[in-house]
Amino acid sequence: MKKILLSGIQPTGRAHIGNYFGAMKQFVELQNSLKYQCYFMIADYHGLNFVQNAEEMKDNISNLALDYVAIGLDSEKSVIFKQSDVPAHTELAWIFDTITTMPYLTRAHAFKDAELKNKEISVGTFNYPMLMAADILLYNTDIVPVGQDQKQHIEIARDTAEKFNRIFGETFKIPEALIIKNVAVVPGTDGRKMSKSYGNTIPLFAEDQEIEKCVMSIVTDSGSGLPENVYNIHKLFRPEAELIKIYADKAGKYKALKDILIEDIKTFISPIRERRNQLEKNKDSISEILKKGGEKAKSKTETKLLEIKKKIGVY
Ligand code: TYM
Repeated sequence: MKKILLSGIQPTGRAHIGNYFGAMKQFVELQNSLKYQCYFMIADYHGLNFVQNAEEMKDNISNLALDYVAIGLDSEKSVIFKQSDVPAHTELAWIFDTITTMPYLTRAHAFKDAELKNKEISVGTFNYPMLMAADILLYNTDIVPVGQDQKQHIEIARDTAEKFNRIFGETFKIPEALIIKNVAVVPGTDGRKMSKSYGNTIPLFAEDQEIEKCVMSIVTDSGSGLPENVYNIHKLFRPEAELIKIYADKAGKYKALKDILIEDIKTFISPIRERRNQLEKNKDSISEILKKGGEKAKSKTETKLLEIKKKIGVY
């Protein structure tokens, strides 16, 4: 029996190279290793906390599905689906709500951040980790490839599985996060974590001009040492052994270094962007992938949900 892998991305805007190197690249590699039964999800109900406009949501979902296929996810090898097509996710999230305390969830980083910024927090944002625990635990998942920012969510999923098992008897497998150390936190153009909410991203399918603009906006310090922010992004695209030499030869020449980075990013992006453009001409086939994936995921969760319902006594 193959081990089970599940991961997901929220359809909240354009995917960026932080998503790619932190998570999506691993999705493709692990899928192609053929060692896992893979589930790749579009976390649209999570995304609803941020995108509350039907047209925008629809576009984001179909764009993310296109991204998945363009980078090499393959519906013959993996189940590619959207969360909202599988009602068991929200159903299980509710069950988890009932065994989880409010003080426990107030320790979640995302909640604490929102609170610190004095933002109004929706119940959906507060409960976000419960839905994510349901996503993961429903499939008896063994590993969850993600970036560092999701680590706590996976710990919450583990705690929730253990708690449920304690109360109702052995039901859930305890999943492991898979986080690759040197890409756990991909920096953005300002040196902070690359994030849509910071406006410091380089889109994964950026056009050439956009790549130039993003790279030119990378913040460089005024000294003559290593331009760290440029270097830290550059090392995603070229082996460090080569980079060290280039950065020594062109020490202090920030414009020249940025030009090399622009070329390296263009070389990386252009083939996948081309593939994506081709796929976009046949959007129906992408909808079909999601539809079939949703059906597969749904049938997979039905047995598990039944087992859970028996355990809690509602069956
Ligand atoms: P999301 O949509 O914020 O991000 C998708 C993936 O990209 C990773 N990532 C990064 N990795 C390294 N450096 C960065 N700068 C960077 N920015 C983003 C994230 O860690 C993530 O792996 N809650 C999840 C979506 C989700 C999910 C799940 C994931 C819902 N259910 C179940 C796994 C399993 C999220 O918001 O990811």
